[in-house]
Amino acid sequence: MNIETLRLAAAEGMDEWSRIRRHLHRHPELSFEEVETAAFISGQLRAWGIDHEQGIAGTGIVGVLEGREPGKRCVAVRAELDALPINEANDVPYKSAREGVMHACGHDVHMTCLLGLLRILSQHREAWVGRLKFMFQPGEEKHPGGGSLMIAEGVLQNPTVDAIFGLHVYPHLPAGVVGFRPGQYMASTDEIHIRIIGKGGHAALPHQTIDPISIAAQIITALQQVVSRKSNPVSPCVLSFGRIAGGTVNNVIPEFVELSGTLRAMDETWRTRAHGLIRNIVEGISTAFEAHAELDIPKGYPSLYNDPELTARAEAKAREYLGDTQVRLLSLRMTADDFAFYSHQVPGCYFRIGTSREEREFTASVHHPKFDIDERAMETAIGTLAWAVLGELQG
Ligand code: NI
Repeated sequence: MNIETLRLAAAEGMDEWSRIRRHLHRHPELSFEEVETAAFISGQLRAWGIDHEQGIAGTGIVGVLEGREPGKRCVAVRAELDALPINEANDVPYKSAREGVMHACGHDVHMTCLLGLLRILSQHREAWVGRLKFMFQPGEEKHPGGGSLMIAEGVLQNPTVDAIFGLHVYPHLPAGVVGFRPGQYMASTDEIHIRIIGKGGHAALPHQTIDPISIAAQIITALQQVVSRKSNPVSPCVLSFGRIAGGTVNNVIPEFVELSGTLRAMDETWRTRAHGLIRNIVEGISTAFEAHAELDIPKGYPSLYNDPELTARAEAKAREYLGDTQVRLLSLRMTADDFAFYSHQVPGCYFRIGTSREEREFTASVHHPKFDIDERAMETAIGTLAWAVLGELQG
C-alpha cells in the first residue's frame, strides 16, 4: 500500500472515525464490564466483514486480518475497552451518557484508531502481505490488568505475534504530532500495605504501651533511604505513601497504624530487591521497638519496555509519514500501563499521539473530568499506526 493512498484513506475516514469515537465516548463502561462496548465493536467489525472472536478474558475481542497472502510476519495491535469512574465535566454533544463513568483516558480514541486501521487495511487487502492480529482488551485500568489475562488466554500465540503496537493519547503534544521512546519508558507499579500493631493505652503512660504512631513515623523516614541510598540514581524510582491512618484522639495511644503507598520503578531486578528492602526495614524497626508488622506488597503492572529496534523502525516510518517536525522523543514517565505485560513477552512499541490543539485547547490531562481531544489526532494516529504496521509486516 503506498503512502499517498494511506494518507487519503486516513483523511477521508474522518467523519467515520469521529462518529465511532463519539459513540464510544457517550457510552463508557467500567473495567471488566465492557459488554456494550464489545458488542458495538463486534457489530462494526461484522459490518466491515472482519472475522473475530469475542469473549476473550471476559469481554475481549481478538481476530486476525490477513493481507493478500499470510506472509511470514504477524504484527499485533492492542486497544483498551474500559473507562474510568469519573463524572465528565465537558459540555459537548458527545458527553458521557453514564453518570459517574467517563472515557477520561482516551480508550475510546484508541479503540477508534484500531478500528480505523482495520477498516483501511481490510479495504486494501490486495496491497499488503502478512497478518495483523487485533486485540481489544478489557480492564486496563484495574488490577490485575486485562493484558495479563489476555496473555494467559494465549493471544500472543496461534499465530505467534512477532511484534506488538499500542498507542496512547497525550495532551502534552498537539494533534498531528507523535512521540516515541526506545527502551524503558513507563514504570512498574506495586502497592504497599503496612499495618503496625503495637499496644494501646494512656498517652501519659507511654512506658505501658507500644506506640505504633512513633514507630510508623520512623518507618516512613527510614523507607526514604530505599530510594535515596539504595536505588541506582540513574534509574528512576518513586516510593510514595498516600495514606496513613491510626488513632482517634490526642491522649490515647492506638493499637495499630496503617500505611498505604506505591512503589514505581523502571528496572525489574531492582523492583524485586526493593520489595525485600522495604520488608526488612518495616520488620526490623517494628521488632526493635517490640511491635509487630504485617506487610503486603501486591504486584501491579511491570515496567513498560519499548523494544529499541522495533521502536526505531516505527519512528522512522512515522518520520516518513508525517515529516521530521511532527515526531518527538518522549520523556520517561512514572505512570503505568498494562501494555507492559505484552512488552515483556514480545518486542513491543507503545507510542504517544498528541491530542491538544496547538497546546492551548484540549490540554486537560488524562484521568481529568475535562479531558477531551482534538479529533484530528485520530487521522494522524491511524495513518502513522498503519504505516508502521505495514513497514513491520514487510519485515
Ligand atoms: Ni490509558
